[in-house]
Amino acid sequence: MSSSLNERDQTLADRLIEVRRNLHREPELSYEEFRTTKKLREWLAQAGIRILDIPLATGLMAEIGQGSGPVAAIRCDIDALPIEEQTELPFASVIPGKMHACGHDFHTAVILGAALLLKEREHELPGRIRVLFQPAEETGHGAESVLASGGLKDVDVIFGLHNSPELPTGSFGTRTGALTAGVDRFEITVKGVGAHAATPENGVDTIVTAAQMITMLQTVVSRQNTTLEPVVLSVTRINGGFTWNVLPETVELEGTVRTYNEEIRRNIPVQMTRIIEGIAAAAGAEAKLHWYPGPPATVNHGEWADFTKKVASQAGYEVHDIPPQMGGEDFSFYLQQIPGAFVNIGAGPNHPLHHPRFDVDEAAILPAAEYFALLAEKALRKLQETAES
Ligand code: NI
Repeated sequence: MSSSLNERDQTLADRLIEVRRNLHREPELSYEEFRTTKKLREWLAQAGIRILDIPLATGLMAEIGQGSGPVAAIRCDIDALPIEEQTELPFASVIPGKMHACGHDFHTAVILGAALLLKEREHELPGRIRVLFQPAEETGHGAESVLASGGLKDVDVIFGLHNSPELPTGSFGTRTGALTAGVDRFEITVKGVGAHAATPENGVDTIVTAAQMITMLQTVVSRQNTTLEPVVLSVTRINGGFTWNVLPETVELEGTVRTYNEEIRRNIPVQMTRIIEGIAAAAGAEAKLHWYPGPPATVNHGEWADFTKKVASQAGYEVHDIPPQMGGEDFSFYLQQIPGAFVNIGAGPNHPLHHPRFDVDEAAILPAAEYFALLAEKALRKLQETAES
């Protein structure tokens, strides 16, 4: 990767850093990205890029190229987090309690940069490039609203990125198969009969019952699913009781399950229900599982994951095969319907994602923008060749 930039590249690098800082200063939470969307509309319109009429309240889609050839999509997310920024950067968030602590400002600058570069080559593109600025990634469901809008119906391949604070600038990581986990949330309510702590025989003790549930729920991972497929089950909240000498009538538990395998993911609530209902019945209590499905695992298509790596090494990146991560990413919903791959772009080393001191290396923006422009154009050529042969 070249370290000294020519004048044209320096101008674009500066422009994209300015875009990133502008977005960083005014972060907006999921589904509230109205100002961000307005800015993007202006920047795209200034460059003469066609904005599509897609029914999205926040976020937007643009398109570069023409004709009936293949369609490749590049996607970034635009939302921020409810975190109080502690970076002390000159362009730190001016909105109390909100921060671009996951680098979605970086992603947006990269994909806008790719769009600007592709616009310059519009007449040479053998198809169309759909540029997607997605809202509400942090909810885990923004991608579903984009799919419901119908704006990706004719897309042949889709690519997305996340910055990686663990990978240094100039490095690139992805893998074939699952890259991020399926992320589900659960709540359990245990209902018994309250009693004086001195006479537990007069009640049904929800504390003891819930404790047994917590312990036995671990056997979902250790005894009810294959050791060859990763599963995490964490109980993260226990609420019950209010004083020292009363046994409470109810206890609430909350937690999360992480999986890669979709069949295992579907079975887990069934296995959990059997455990909690069985233990509740044995104790004379009642229990109910509330299941809140989040995004599924992000499963990269092998052919396209390989393609992203090949183009990355052509672009001068140091390419890594990275291990899967137990975090979630709603890009997974696209990959359930559209071939493609999700990649990590090194912009570190730095504090972890969602940390109040999180930052990115801005020197990584222009190379990533150039990479996504190259990737999208090369993908169109590959799709065109496949269609012709
Ligand atoms: Ni993120």
